[in-house]
Amino acid sequence: MGADWRALVRNVPDFPVPGIQFKDIAPVLADAGALAAVTGELTDAARAMSPDVVVAIEARGFILGSPLALALGVGFVPVRKPGKLPFTTRSVAYALEYGEAVLHMHTDALTPGARAVIVDDVLATGGTLAATAQLVREAGAIPVGALVALELGALGGRERLPDLPLTSLQGV
Ligand code: PRP
Repeated sequence: MGADWRALVRNVPDFPVPGIQFKDIAPVLADAGALAAVTGELTDAARAMSPDVVVAIEARGFILGSPLALALGVGFVPVRKPGKLPFTTRSVAYALEYGEAVLHMHTDALTPGARAVIVDDVLATGGTLAATAQLVREAGAIPVGALVALELGALGGRERLPDLPLTSLQGV
């Protein structure tokens, strides 16, 4: 059995704005055993989806998604915030738990028909994963599932993703 990464998740009240209980995975990432354990669990879940590619969301999704892609032997596609990707992009705007956001993906990042598994650290309202699934579909690829380490169940994000099989490792 791996290290208990769940016990290392830190709750930070009132970040980034008052009233938000921020779930901080930095202590998980900083612990070698916990990092191996959480990425191992995500890899096992992803393998069951037989993906052709990992699509991960800035910024903490990158940290968890990259080792997954390496372990599965598939490529990695970053979904980024505005002004970061250098080539031509498609974008989707969406509402976040706190404020508004826009996500971009390179127009040539995905092969049409590719089976994409989407990876992020936390599911809150579900807007980020829904927007990313839309980017994947607009590229002609197939969002076969989404993986997150933590799911804030009270926010109902899962209900916003009726067409996206979602695996979360831990409800918080
Ligand atoms: C957080 C988290 C998810 C998103 C989930 O990202 O990492 O990407 O919010 O929220 P949602 O389900 O309500 O859409 P954040 O905005 O903190 O960006 P960061 O990872 O770049 O700091």
